[in-house]
Amino acid sequence: MIKSTGTRDNILFYLKKNKGIWISGETLSSRLNISRAAVNKHIKKLRQEGYTIESSTKKGYLLKTFADLLLADEIREGLDTGIFGKTDILHLKETDSTNVQAKILAAEGGPEGTLVVAENQHSGRGRKGRTWFSSPGLGIYSSLILRPAISPTEAPGITLMTAVAAVEAIIALTGIPASIKWPNDIMVKNRKIAGILTEISTEMDSVDFIIVGIGINVNTPADAFPSDIKKIATSVYAETGKRFPRVKMLQTYLRNFEIHYETFKKEGFPGIREKWKSFTEIIGKKVTVRKVAGEITGEVVDVDHEGVLIIQDGNGEVHRIFSGDLLL
Ligand code: BTN
Repeated sequence: MIKSTGTRDNILFYLKKNKGIWISGETLSSRLNISRAAVNKHIKKLRQEGYTIESSTKKGYLLKTFADLLLADEIREGLDTGIFGKTDILHLKETDSTNVQAKILAAEGGPEGTLVVAENQHSGRGRKGRTWFSSPGLGIYSSLILRPAISPTEAPGITLMTAVAAVEAIIALTGIPASIKWPNDIMVKNRKIAGILTEISTEMDSVDFIIVGIGINVNTPADAFPSDIKKIATSVYAETGKRFPRVKMLQTYLRNFEIHYETFKKEGFPGIREKWKSFTEIIGKKVTVRKVAGEITGEVVDVDHEGVLIIQDGNGEVHRIFSGDLLL
């Protein structure tokens, strides 16, 4: 986990202040009152974290315009949240799945608000055992540890709440007409732009921790999606033709998340239900829900105060759907 070390932060501060300009090792060592060897050691560490820092024996160090990496300091900078994206952040260049890594940290006692973020996942996970395609450096793959004092039955509301935080971020920053498809998909014209995977660990009747993972397709070109999902996936880049800074998107999502999570902890899903409904287009639509036990076709009447989907079939029978895949 990347923790703040005073000297490291100070070196980064000077490098950023002088971005694009060389700063000598001597200047750094005298300003920070540390040896040249210590400067060198911290520069090496910053490089390991992902910063591109050139060095020259004559000129010193130069911080290059950094690629759009989801580095802990970049996420923290300018973010006005209390804990999400401000406290513990684990940034990984490559991992199996950020949800898996967050689960390991949570089981070891990782606190609420811990953020795991990766540039790439080789075993990204989706709902119902499906995989999540991750294109290296182009999407957001992130997971948060939550420890709310709620009962396990309330936990599905977290997924719905997260969908609001994500759809708001996408719309506000890109103007794309994104909407929520119950329960966890963020869609643009019938193509998925983001997905949420919520995993819960319970003890008796209480929640031990919840991992809420989100994948947002930001800069993935349309033709980079594998053939099996090409027709059903999209990205910010595919929709707008413009590359988008991922850090900004992640920060906006985290800010929204914190606001809605506070409401959720006080009022449960009812506190966010109207907002959720304002971002969905499924109400009044004819849909088919695919469940383990079979399919139900009918009209979506509502999403109730528990986040349960209410469907009325052709015979007028009303069904309460707790989980399933929605086919429009
Ligand atoms: C789905 O739509 O089925 C859920 C997709 C969730 C993908 C994200 S990417 C970050 C986090 N880590 C994972 O392995 N999955 C979630």
